[in-house]
Amino acid sequence: MDSKRVVSIIGTGSYVPEKVLTNQDLAEMVETTDEWIHSRTGMRERHIAADGQATSDLGAAAAEKAIADAGISVDEIDLIIVATLSPDMFFPSTACFVQDKIGAKNAFCYDLGAACSGFLYALETAKNQIAAGAVKTALVIGSEKMSTFIDWEDRSTCILFGDGAGAAVLQAGGEGRGVMDAVMGSDGSLADLLWTPGGGSRNPISREMIDQKQHFLKMQGREVFKHAVVRMGDTVLQALEKNGVSSDDIKCFIPHQANVRIIDSIAKRLGVVGRMYTNVEKYANTSSAALAIALDEAVKDGAIVKGDLVVLTVFGGGFTWGANVLEWNK
Ligand code: COA
Repeated sequence: MDSKRVVSIIGTGSYVPEKVLTNQDLAEMVETTDEWIHSRTGMRERHIAADGQATSDLGAAAAEKAIADAGISVDEIDLIIVATLSPDMFFPSTACFVQDKIGAKNAFCYDLGAACSGFLYALETAKNQIAAGAVKTALVIGSEKMSTFIDWEDRSTCILFGDGAGAAVLQAGGEGRGVMDAVMGSDGSLADLLWTPGGGSRNPISREMIDQKQHFLKMQGREVFKHAVVRMGDTVLQALEKNGVSSDDIKCFIPHQANVRIIDSIAKRLGVVGRMYTNVEKYANTSSAALAIALDEAVKDGAIVKGDLVVLTVFGGGFTWGANVLEWNK
């Protein structure tokens, strides 16, 4: 492990669209209340992209902030990975659109699909490409326009999601251990508990498919909740063990921002209450952007400082899950 090349996060950034949709606003759209939503999820509001704004627009805005924070020239970026489940279009990749917007002409670009777990998967993928010596500098983005495929008449799902993007610049080198090894897992047999069944090759776009609202996100909330608590808890313990650190050494745990009750349950199980970072109140669940935004905010508001050990953990459709450990060295 020690002979591996160190890979560091040298800059972060995030962006959420201007429009805010509060629980109160939702109560005027579907039969719900601020009290119900807040007590079940911890959410108060979420941001919603403008009609003309696509996922790559959100991602590019976050990326520009991360690049400025890293203090590098855009020409130095060798690789762009965008984690998303709401791409601008089936192809080309959203990463290619981001590349064009930010002018990163020396980068090669691709998208990564791991639903809400995408940012951590992309971080691990980029880290390994850097550690292998294939690239020196990578831009990793989680970006989502969830509002596009939410059924705004379904109160069990429409309250849960928001739009936004977060980004990180990774580079070879740095003090300490930087981005350590991730533990990741998936279980495709549970795909139908959280998915968007229509619009792809299995169930192509048709009048009938749209009439049946198959192009909207569908979820078995209680089942997802249970699996998320178990998987994120287990995988954090595995990642700590893999990297030879104890939970007592960790300054801050940054979980996927899906529901504050999920986060609290994991904190209790791991005995780390008070060390979990959460901003779900402001943004709701922004899928692959959630971890990226939370990481950026944790750094910017001083919850993480140089030398701190940090755990990231995610869970999402697939099912997919994962965790890794960072030594924050910026
Ligand atoms: N407002 C008011 N009532 C609502 C509601 C809303 N927005 N949404 C659902 N309800 C109702 C249900 O119809 C149900 O009524 P019933 O008992 O008469 O059938 C009742 O509230 C309880 O529903 P239930 O689904 O059991 O609630 P819950 O406590 O499990 O909370 C979630 C629902 C969705 C908040 C919760 O299950 C959850 O967060 N799951 C994980 C979702 C997630 O994180 N997904 C993404 C993972 S990446």
